[in-house]
Amino acid sequence: MSSSQPSVPAADLFLGIDLGTSELKTVLLDDQGRVVRSASAPLALRHPRPGWSEQDPGDWWGACTDCLDRLCAEGFGARVRGIGLSGQMHGAVLLDRARDVIRPAILWNDTRSAAQCRTLRESLDGFEGIAGNLAMPGFTAPKLLWLREHAPREFERVDLVMLPKDYLRLRLSGEAATDASDASGTLWLDIARRDWSSALLRAGGMRREQVPPVLEACAPAGALRRELAERWSIPAGTPIAAGAGDNAAAAVGTGAIAPGEGFVSLGTSGVVFVATDRYQPDPASALHSFCHALPGTWHQMSVMLSAAECLRWVTRLCGQPDEAHALAGAASLSPAQRAAAPLFLPYLGGERTPHNDALARAMFHGLGHEHDAAALVWSVIEGVAFGLRDGLSCMPEALRARIGVLDLVGGGARSELWAQLLADVLEVPLRLRADAAGGAAVGAARLGALAAGRALEQVLRAPASAQRVFEPATEGRQALRERHARFRELYAACR
Ligand code: XUL
Repeated sequence: MSSSQPSVPAADLFLGIDLGTSELKTVLLDDQGRVVRSASAPLALRHPRPGWSEQDPGDWWGACTDCLDRLCAEGFGARVRGIGLSGQMHGAVLLDRARDVIRPAILWNDTRSAAQCRTLRESLDGFEGIAGNLAMPGFTAPKLLWLREHAPREFERVDLVMLPKDYLRLRLSGEAATDASDASGTLWLDIARRDWSSALLRAGGMRREQVPPVLEACAPAGALRRELAERWSIPAGTPIAAGAGDNAAAAVGTGAIAPGEGFVSLGTSGVVFVATDRYQPDPASALHSFCHALPGTWHQMSVMLSAAECLRWVTRLCGQPDEAHALAGAASLSPAQRAAAPLFLPYLGGERTPHNDALARAMFHGLGHEHDAAALVWSVIEGVAFGLRDGLSCMPEALRARIGVLDLVGGGARSELWAQLLADVLEVPLRLRADAAGGAAVGAARLGALAAGRALEQVLRAPASAQRVFEPATEGRQALRERHARFRELYAACR
């Protein structure tokens, strides 16, 4: 439970559940949009083989019930009027006819299905035109083709494929459904029409009955099972919104809906997200063009596979007690030491935007006797910032020109050092709000409020929470640009 415990006004509450990769987070939002309680539970990530990434859906459910037991312990459940879901995208949760899980879920950062991406592209002329996106191994469709080739017995048992947050809905309500933003990451969705494409499903060896209906994120899609409603004292019939993929949900959380509004996320993955009012696919750039969480809206995003994950990795590597210590070391470096730090390519498990390269790997370049843990940590956070800069550069010029400020969300947003460096590298002001780390869970709760019939203008009104803007510094800009140019050359040279 969060340590600060504000008093909870006697008003309606909305519950948001965000199934992340490193933790599951739940929040209660009051009808002024303030987070009044939160609870989270860690999740373990398994890499059974290089490039593989799996989690057990049973662990997600355990974390969810654990958080809700704690969140509702003080009797707040009785005031919940709507529930919303958000979750890590793309993961394949494979269920048999009895709705039992067939095998561990294959996640968004799993790159085992690169060969199947080629099969997909070759099996349908105009594939990318309908799917709006390059076939990339993190997406859902190639995972099913991989299964058909490598575990045909499991493939034959697949009766229903669910995305991670939709599996939680199934457990919460018994209802099978998904939403257009999350379904955008499957490569089975016709992104312009916001519904499944029979041609894409066929190309992926799938039948339409094997995927749940697609709804808009704010539409009601089920209600809590009776025994769960009793367990948490939540009124029977409380609607559960269809919910959204975690990035679209985070955008709802920060209010990024109009064209040019967006955010940078420093979570396990790193994302630059910008909302659009039309479908503008640009597959060649490895940008993602997906449905947004409100009807008639879309978004473009660049996705890097390892962002805050790189900081976790270097913290372990250097034997630092935790990430805060690691960052404090980096913060103590002088400008000259930073300028002489090694360069780091942040591709620990391959990369999507801009390279779409499952085999890319990380590296330090230019290590010397003088470098210590602090220098390595600095290199890593700088390398992640450069990767995000490459993602931003993929956005169409006209869209980039509309960006005024971007919100900063995700666990990595807790570091002022990283926030400032990121603003300097992106050359865009970054706004950090008090509840930035919980962006997607807040967005989920807001979708729950919409599903409960609350008005859009009321729900999207930003709470008067403290915020800080990191303005890009002009001093040192040229030096950073030069390091960034060398960073880009390094990938090209090592490819
Ligand atoms: C988006 C993506 C990641 C996951 C992480 O395409 O793969 O951002 O959603 O949660």
